[in-house]
Amino acid sequence: MKKLKFEGYALNSNGLVDIQAPKEDYDNGFYFLSNDSIKFSKNSNIIPPIFLGVANVDWLHAFGMSVYACDNIPHAFAFDNNGRQIRHLFELIEIILKSETRVDFVENLFCVEFREQVRTFLESISGSLLFVPGAAAGQGSFTVSDGTNLDPFAIEREIWRDAKWDKDKFCETYQVNAELEADGIRIYSNVIGGFQDYIATITQINVTEDRPHPFSLRFGSGFLANDIIYQKLRKALSTIPIFICLADVKESLHTLLRFHSYSPMILWMSNLMTGTFLLNDNQFFEHSKAIWSQFRPHGGIPEIDCTVLQDQRTFMEFYHSAGFSLGDYYSANSHTKSFRELVPYLSSKNNLQVTNMQEYIDQDKGESKLPNTRYIHVDTFMSSSNDSISEDTIFLHILMGYGMSADDFIEVFNKSRAIAQRVIVMEHNPESFDFYMSKKQTSQPELIESLKPNKKILIPGNTCMDRNLMYIFDQ
Ligand SMILES: C[S@@+](CC[C@H](N)C(=O)[O-])C[C@H]1O[C@@H](n2cnc3c(N)ncnc32)[C@H](O)[C@@H]1O
Repeated sequence: MKKLKFEGYALNSNGLVDIQAPKEDYDNGFYFLSNDSIKFSKNSNIIPPIFLGVANVDWLHAFGMSVYACDNIPHAFAFDNNGRQIRHLFELIEIILKSETRVDFVENLFCVEFREQVRTFLESISGSLLFVPGAAAGQGSFTVSDGTNLDPFAIEREIWRDAKWDKDKFCETYQVNAELEADGIRIYSNVIGGFQDYIATITQINVTEDRPHPFSLRFGSGFLANDIIYQKLRKALSTIPIFICLADVKESLHTLLRFHSYSPMILWMSNLMTGTFLLNDNQFFEHSKAIWSQFRPHGGIPEIDCTVLQDQRTFMEFYHSAGFSLGDYYSANSHTKSFRELVPYLSSKNNLQVTNMQEYIDQDKGESKLPNTRYIHVDTFMSSSNDSISEDTIFLHILMGYGMSADDFIEVFNKSRAIAQRVIVMEHNPESFDFYMSKKQTSQPELIESLKPNKKILIPGNTCMDRNLMYIFDQ
């Protein structure tokens, strides 16, 4: 696949996608905070997953829980079709990076200084590690001077009582009109969902008739559950490549899923594939169907390994509405298994896939299924000058297994080594049980092993754990 291009912001970029700063200065309404409810259970992925998600504020909660649960997430994407919303996420990340503690973050976010007693109270809150129920907000007890424990509403009011709020700074930073009220900051800003104003709260989420809708930070849950998660998120935000992209889910989700089709993924969808969005918009419905048919090839996406997180307030699980059941599961084919092992070894920037099977190039319409990878037939590769090939990683895709002689293979291998930082050789394993009944295999593992690879990896097949062999050669 070709390199993806987006307008947006990049942090710790590794060159995986081309990101251009947004052309417009976006001044639309946006969600200053969110109100989704996220259920998170520990992910059992052995290979670290890619994190993809809608760029509302809850992206931080979902990502925070993911980095807590899974080490070594290779990179993350946030996407939203509202340019102001992606700028807000970028600004929030900058605030987290400069705020050493959770409480500093809350003060910097709201442009406020709390009483010492409030800071101590907030510091004492320690929420659940792997579960982000909206209802976790307001947990803990706040004891006032007469010894009374307060209910959640009263806690929110107590937090804001006598707070030093810098209204000018807040309104200037977020370009909104806002007022401090007894139980939060009332923000006047149009957002989808028909809200023209809402109350931004720290813990409180309850909706009542007689006050504007609350959008809450839900301190005490998600990335603000406790200091361990907060620090893990801060570290991830300063080390993991993150791409915050202006992108409409309806147009870009398929591309993003295809781009990552050989990596396990965690996908945060907010409420875009639930309730009204799903029922009223056929494009959302089609995406939902594609994701829930993840175990079978669908529209160019092979058997993807995707854990979907979404707003839990809806009663409708989207795989039910898309008409699929868990019984539709079947295991990935051997091609998918091989590419899943391969992808972590590809360069993030650009790769070359060399094949001697013209029919595979034709089937794929000339475009490799691998991310940032160009397809080339081995004859074209051999007749090209070394200078005309600029890829960092060259992948020799089962050449002897499809009939290439050992001598020709060595020529292709030597040319690849002269050009690329990394050469990856994949071949069939003639000894594997998968090939027991089939015609004689022509791959020669002992020849490749004599070339002294840095690493050898066995790849499972249909009936065995070693159908294919993959060798990594680094400069
Ligand atoms: C659907 S809204 C709902 C608000 C959500 N309940 C919350 O608490 O933030 C979630 C996010 O999806 C974004 N969004 C809506 N339609 C979209 C689309 N077609 N493509 C990408 N993002 C979209 C919105 O801009 C917003 O940031």
